[in-house]
Amino acid sequence: MADPAPKQAPRGVVTDNLVSLQSFILEEEARYPRATGEFSWIVSAISLAAKIIAHKVRHVRLQNVLGDDGVTNVQGEEQLHMDAIANEVIMRVLGGRSSIAVLGSEEDEEPTILRRGHEGGRYCVLFDPLDGSSNLDTAVGVGTIFTILRNDPHIPGAVETVCQPGHQQVAAGYVLYGSSTVFVITTGHGVHMFELDAAVGSFMLVKRDLQMPARKKIYSVNEANADGFPEQFRRYLKWAHAEGYTSRYIGSMVADIHRTLVNGGVFLYPPTKKHPDGKLRLLYEANPMSFLVEQAGGTSVTADGRRTMDLQPGKLHERVPLVLGSRDEVDAVMRA
Ligand code: AHG
Ligand code: MN
Ligand code: MN
Repeated sequence: MADPAPKQAPRGVVTDNLVSLQSFILEEEARYPRATGEFSWIVSAISLAAKIIAHKVRHVRLQNVLGDDGVTNVQGEEQLHMDAIANEVIMRVLGGRSSIAVLGSEEDEEPTILRRGHEGGRYCVLFDPLDGSSNLDTAVGVGTIFTILRNDPHIPGAVETVCQPGHQQVAAGYVLYGSSTVFVITTGHGVHMFELDAAVGSFMLVKRDLQMPARKKIYSVNEANADGFPEQFRRYLKWAHAEGYTSRYIGSMVADIHRTLVNGGVFLYPPTKKHPDGKLRLLYEANPMSFLVEQAGGTSVTADGRRTMDLQPGKLHERVPLVLGSRDEVDAVMRA
């Protein structure tokens, strides 16, 4: 007699394993017999910093941390209180990890050297501590972006060490402080999404190996800058309007990219009158997002069509024009 069909779990009972970010990273580490656990420690430090920042971001008015410091940062922008606070949280949490040689932040002109040469420190971490922070006063989604690079102790200067093309990234990801707190990471083996369960204080796996659709009629760009776009981008917008595309633009890169990863579409920050080289920073915004998008089946190019992750950075805060998202949608922009 044939075995009885396995009983279906009653509706609503999910039988998938419950996997935390911590256990996921250890699972990943087990792929590498010679792994030392140093990398896992860095990711766990980033997740700790993310939980601290998430709490502060969700109480900015109660904790009276809106507004700016009256300081102009290296970007030539006013540094907001929360930019500085998020920066300090990450520096204080990551600074204690002995596996890190150099830290580089959007908020600091120069990298911070923790260990150099043969003092150890196999990795460098670059980050945008709070992306989209100008949206904080209206409670719109903001985020933290990070990328993990290998440290080469033979390279004398910290800037030269971290100015690596994006295809050399060991890992990259972001935390979106949105309607939920989402941690998205890739180590080169797919894109994986976790959601913070604040009740237990853990990021829990909600999506393994996220793949974005090849097509989706959504473009994301600040059209107020269109007069300054190169002709090709203006042609594209005309074409997209005629094709009935939807426009979605939040103005926080992390939120716009998360929507693009989850739903598909294309995100663009072309050259503008104010930012002829584009506004977004190559090392700690464009490259990490490009790594994620490529791992999710999409593509990322700069305004002249070169693969973003092949660009050789020259400076820590170098800016780059950017087109990234669903493969066919990026093609449509570049063919316009
Ligand atoms: P940051 O807050 O880290 O300086 O980044 C802001 C960036 C990015 O989040 C967003 O995509 C872009 O600025 C929006 O720029 P515009 O307001 O010029 O559209
Ligand atoms: Mn940013
Ligand atoms: Mn920022």
